[in-house]
Amino acid sequence: MDVEVTSGPLEGVEADLHAVGLFEGEEVPEAFGDVPGTADAVPTYRKLALLRPDAERRLLVVGLGKREDLGPERLRVAAALAVNEAGRYRGRRIAWALPEPPHGEVGADALAAALVEGTILGAYRFDRFKSRDPEDPPPPAVERLVVAAGGDADRIAGDVEVARIAAEAANRTRELQSLPSNVVTPTYLADRAREIASAHESVNAEVLGRDEIEERGMGGLVAVAKGTAEEPRLISLRYAGADGEAETLGFVGKAVTFDTGGISIKPAAKMEEMKMDMSGGAAVLEALGAIAELELRLNIAVCVPATENMLSGSATKPGDIITQLNGKTVEVNNTDAEGRLILADALTHCVRELGADRVVDLATLTGGVVIALGSTYAAAISNDDDWLEKVLAAAEDTGELAWRLPLHPEYKELTRGKDADLTNSSSKRKASTIYAASFLEEFVDGKPWVHLDIAGTAWDVGRQYVGNGPTGFGVRLLVDLARDLAG
Ligand code: BES
Ligand code: ZN
Ligand code: ZN
Repeated sequence: MDVEVTSGPLEGVEADLHAVGLFEGEEVPEAFGDVPGTADAVPTYRKLALLRPDAERRLLVVGLGKREDLGPERLRVAAALAVNEAGRYRGRRIAWALPEPPHGEVGADALAAALVEGTILGAYRFDRFKSRDPEDPPPPAVERLVVAAGGDADRIAGDVEVARIAAEAANRTRELQSLPSNVVTPTYLADRAREIASAHESVNAEVLGRDEIEERGMGGLVAVAKGTAEEPRLISLRYAGADGEAETLGFVGKAVTFDTGGISIKPAAKMEEMKMDMSGGAAVLEALGAIAELELRLNIAVCVPATENMLSGSATKPGDIITQLNGKTVEVNNTDAEGRLILADALTHCVRELGADRVVDLATLTGGVVIALGSTYAAAISNDDDWLEKVLAAAEDTGELAWRLPLHPEYKELTRGKDADLTNSSSKRKASTIYAASFLEEFVDGKPWVHLDIAGTAWDVGRQYVGNGPTGFGVRLLVDLARDLAG
């Protein structure tokens, strides 16, 4: 989408839909004040009124509630409502008057970024497999957004561009999440990683296949991939945006391109949703693409273990004992707890081979997190308060929220194996989200690490700008984190 900022007045911008916010106790802007129907506009948050200043123009008045309650999240929602409205009139160009921030913490830059994010995310559709009805075509794609920002225009232009790049990357992630597992295979993800590398001088890709994964001793990834005919891939990307002396951040993402549960098979109901079990992997790949496009000055290593989790005559069986890349042995008591096995090897690889000094991992890891936090917060679990604080700040900035859950030696106790060092699942079924994180902690060599369990936030969040499908959760968070660290 083309995104532009102008210091000129909203009325001067050519668009199919002009949008303005209306706050409680305030009036529709003077330039539109005498338009018939203005009295219909209500300031209640999310209420819409469409005015026709003249034969050509459409003015959408979007209720924003109390001015002091205005923050970026409200504008993401408002922008998505406007996109939806534009679609009803087959509009392709939207112009927004940037609402003036309330006094206090919120800046015009964050509000403008939110308008851009809400518009781009809200415009995303997954309809490439639908046959077209020529009588009833789908709304055309929104092609252009202009933000009329008055005196703030120059100051916000940079943030607007970052928001555009991050939101487009989130939409690419959503496409990977939506595409079914017969399209998005581990090989497909590896090809996408190579494509990102070839688009940027600063990015290099390395992809390992089944034989190399075995040779290197990645017993977790081998064990999960044993049951599938689809080739697994260990995908690594390195981004060199700063000199070699600078620290390297590690981004690790779970990419199970379909999770049947394996021999510990899942129930049939809604199993189709398990095509999204690669959401963490897709998010870290596309976030890196956005960071490279922004040329942020830092070094990042991405590692994505990609495989299907299938059942077959060659699949791993409950009770099998495996050896992970770092030498620790694991009793696989539940083959549906596969994410932690592949992440364990990826974390070790990211720290030992790719040289990550601090790591964040994203994974649709447990059903338990959906019970605990719903779709509002991802779970954040960490061995390092300072590193966690940075991740939580990025979560807050972007509305991709995360809430800390604790680690404790008593949880760790649950992960001890009977005949091996660890077990991937305990019959006690206690604190499954924390259990999984305690397991992962065994594989980070004590490096500062944050685990984000995104099983609840990757899909079906229900916010206006992402709807009930894929959210691309984590892409905007990681870009924001990288910006913060690049200074
Ligand atoms: N991929 C699932 C977790 C999941 C659940 C993702 C819902 C998205 C939505 C994961 O591999 C899994 O099956 N976890 C099990 C672990 C259990 C067997 C210890 C779970 O949480 O139920
Ligand atoms: Zn599973
Ligand atoms: Zn899974």
